[in-house]
Amino acid sequence: MCGIVGYIGKKHRAGEVLLDGLKRLEYRGYDSAGMCVMDEGREQTFKAIGKVNILEKKIGKCRTKTNIGIAHTRWATHGKPSIKNAHPHKSGKIHLVHNGIIENYQELKDELIKKRHEFYSETDSEVVAHLIDEENKKYDFETAVIRALTQICGAYALVIIHEDEPKKMIAVRNSSPLVIGVADGEFILASDASAIIQHTNRVVYIDDGEMVVLTPDTYRVKTFSGKNKRKKEQLLDWTDDEAQKEGYSHFMLKEIFEQPNAVSDALRGRIILKNGNAKLGGLIEVTEQLRDIERIVIVSCGTSYCAGLVGEYMLEEYAGLPTEVEYASEFRYRKPLVNKKTAVIAISQSGETADTLAAIREAKNKGALTLGIVNTVSSTIARETHAGVYNHAGPEVGVASTKAFTSQLSILVLLTVFLGRQRQMSFTMGKKILSELKHIPKKIDKVFEDEKNIKRIARKYAKYESMFYLGRKYNFPIAMEGALKIKEISYIHAEGYPSGEMKHGPIALIDKNFPSVILAPNDSVYDKTLSAIEEIKARGGKVVAITTEGNREKLKKHANDIIEIPKTLEMLTPLLSVVPLQLLAYYAGAKKGFDVDKPRNLAKSVTVE
Ligand code: AGP
Repeated sequence: MCGIVGYIGKKHRAGEVLLDGLKRLEYRGYDSAGMCVMDEGREQTFKAIGKVNILEKKIGKCRTKTNIGIAHTRWATHGKPSIKNAHPHKSGKIHLVHNGIIENYQELKDELIKKRHEFYSETDSEVVAHLIDEENKKYDFETAVIRALTQICGAYALVIIHEDEPKKMIAVRNSSPLVIGVADGEFILASDASAIIQHTNRVVYIDDGEMVVLTPDTYRVKTFSGKNKRKKEQLLDWTDDEAQKEGYSHFMLKEIFEQPNAVSDALRGRIILKNGNAKLGGLIEVTEQLRDIERIVIVSCGTSYCAGLVGEYMLEEYAGLPTEVEYASEFRYRKPLVNKKTAVIAISQSGETADTLAAIREAKNKGALTLGIVNTVSSTIARETHAGVYNHAGPEVGVASTKAFTSQLSILVLLTVFLGRQRQMSFTMGKKILSELKHIPKKIDKVFEDEKNIKRIARKYAKYESMFYLGRKYNFPIAMEGALKIKEISYIHAEGYPSGEMKHGPIALIDKNFPSVILAPNDSVYDKTLSAIEEIKARGGKVVAITTEGNREKLKKHANDIIEIPKTLEMLTPLLSVVPLQLLAYYAGAKKGFDVDKPRNLAKSVTVE
C-alpha cells in the first residue's frame, strides 16, 4: 500500500499541492517519497529516503511555478527502500507513480531488457514506465498506455505524465484505489480523499478497469476498451482525519474491513493452480535446503504468535513437518535445540520486535535456517533472516493487529502447500487447498454482512468484567487471538483456552457473570465443542457461538447469541472465524469510549525487551 498524488491545473503550484497531499497520505507508507513536476516540458524529479518532510527539505527552494506533477509515498513491496526504488519511475519521456503489485513484472522486464531497455530500480513499477515508453515508439501517449495495460497482470493505480504533453495526465485503476478531486481550473488525483478535501469536496471515484485523461480544464473517463463513461460526482463532508480513515471511525475498523484486500495481496501471483503449488519468490534461494528440513520452530509474539499456532496445525497435518511454536521472549533465554535441519520461522508484522529479532539471532547462531514472514519490507528481521515471504498487507496503523494476522495466516497456508508439495502432499490436495484459499477474500466480505448482529452482541457483552474465549484444534489459536483482542481494546479480562481443557479446572469460574465466546464451526471436532457449550450452559454461563452458516437453528437452544461464518475447509476456518472476534473487540471498546487505535500501555512496535 503506497500513497499516490497527481496535480494538473492553473491555480496552484503543483509542487505545493503534491507535498501537502503526500503528508496526508503518509499513513499509507513512509519508507521513501518522491515527486516529478513539469514546467513547459522541463521535468524536475526529487526523491528522498524516509518521510515526506525529508523530501520537502530536499526540494527546498527549487519549487518552480509548475502546474502538472505526480508524487508518491512508498511502502516497499518489490525492492528495499532506497532512492533508486523510490517513485516516480521513468523511461524516456514517461514518468509515473504506482500503487499496487505487478505480478508478471519479471517476465516483462526480461522481454524489455532484450529490447535494450535499461532498468535503474528493483521495482515492479518501473517495468510499466518502460512498457508505455516502448509502445509510445509506435503509438500516441493514450494508446500506448492502453496497450501497456493489456500486458500487465496485478493490482495498480497509476498516474502517468509525458514530457512532450505537459498539459495531459493519464491515470488508470485496477484493484488499487484512485479518486479525482474536481475543482474549478484544477484536478487532484489521489489514493484517497485525504489528499484532496483541503482543496475541494467534489470527488469522483474511479472504478476498476477505468482510465482518466485530464487536462487543466477538463477530464474524461473511459474503460480500458475505449468506451466513454459518465461518472457521478460526490460531495464529501469529511474532515481530514475522517478522510484518512476513509469514513471509518478508527484505523482498526478500516483495517478489519481491508482484510479481503490484504489477503488478496498476500496471495497475488503466488497461487499456481496448474501445479497445485504455491510460488514463493522469497524462498527460491533456499528451496533445496528446505527439502532437507526435518523440523520447524516458529518464533513470534502476541498476535503473530497466535498466527504461528495456526501454522503449527497446518504444517503438521498437511506438510507432515514436526512444528513447534514458541514465544520469542522464551526462546531467546532458554537452550533451544535447533540445528541445520531446523527451519526457524519468525512471524512479525513490524519486523522490528526485539524479542523476535533476538530469537532469530540465537537460532542463526546455532546453525538453523532462518526464515521471515514479515510485513515491513527491509525491516531488521527481514534483513537478518536467510530468506522469507513478505505479507504485502500495507501499513497497519491501529495498535491492534488485524489485517496483518489474516495475511500471516494466508502466507502460512501457502508455505504449508509449498513445503507439503516438496514432501508427500498430492497435486490434488495442493490444488484443493489453494482453490479454496482463493475464495477466502469473498468469504470475509460475507462475514461483514453480519456486522450489525456482531455490533449488537459486542454492546451486550461489553459490560462484563471477564470472559472465556474457547476453541478446539484450528480454532484454539483463534480463541487466544480473540481473547488478546478484547483484552487490549476493551480492557476486559479474557482467557483464550482450548475448550477441552475447561473441565480440568477453569470451568469453576463459570457463572452468570462470566460469559464465553465459543468457536464452533462445523469441523471434525464440532460434537466435542457442542459438549463444551452444554457444560457451560449447565453451570449458568452465557454463550456466544461462532458457527458455520446453516447451523443457527440447531444451535439456538444451546447458545444465547450466534454469529455465522461461511463454510470452508477446516484448516482455513481461522481466516474467517477471527473476523467476528476482531469486530466484537472493536465494538466493545468503542462502546466503552476507549481510544481503540491507541490502547493504554501499548505500542505498535515493541522494540524493547
Ligand atoms: C496485537 O494486536 C499486538 N499489537 C501485539 O500482540 C503484536 O502482535 C506483537 O507485539 C507482535 O508484533 P509484530 O508482529 O510486529 O512482531
